[in-house]
Amino acid sequence: EESRKIRVAILICSDRASAGNYEDKTGPKLKYQIQQAPLNGECCEFKILPDEQEEIEQLLRIWSDVNKVDLILTSGGTGFSKRDITPEATRNVIEKEAIGMVIAMMQYSLTKTPMAMLSRAVAGIRGSTLIINLPGSSKGALECFESVAGQIPHAIDLLQ
Ligand code: MTE
Repeated sequence: EESRKIRVAILICSDRASAGNYEDKTGPKLKYQIQQAPLNGECCEFKILPDEQEEIEQLLRIWSDVNKVDLILTSGGTGFSKRDITPEATRNVIEKEAIGMVIAMMQYSLTKTPMAMLSRAVAGIRGSTLIINLPGSSKGALECFESVAGQIPHAIDLLQ
């Protein structure tokens, strides 16, 4: 039987992008990349939200529990700024942490820039949905995604 496509939701967490003060460039790039090998996925949900913890948590719960997407990629809000709360929102909704994916992203990212240590990204599982935080910059988001993408199809198989 031919396996179905991996269903991906992408959430951009950014005060500036959600207010329209800044054109989000990471979303379209992630959307393109998840459709390529090794993921060969499809983007079924996409949203830009401000850095508001309650709003982010609510959408992560809906995409996991109602839409039942396989994978949620968040981008932005992982740093040290006062408004950066994506990891806290993620930690509140996941049932299990996936620390290995965080380590893989950090290990690879540190070979690209020492500023990678300023990301507090979290990854974990809610129901049958894998949630992964990526940094906000296009470069950072794509590098982090690239470092874990190869293992995501198998990870998602195990969640069924
Ligand atoms: N990771 C990779 N691979 N490449 C990068 O360029 N940028 C870093 C880091 N992670 C970066 C990266 C920077 S500069 C910051 S401030 C943190 O991610 C947090 O970014 P965020 O607050 O936009 O999530």
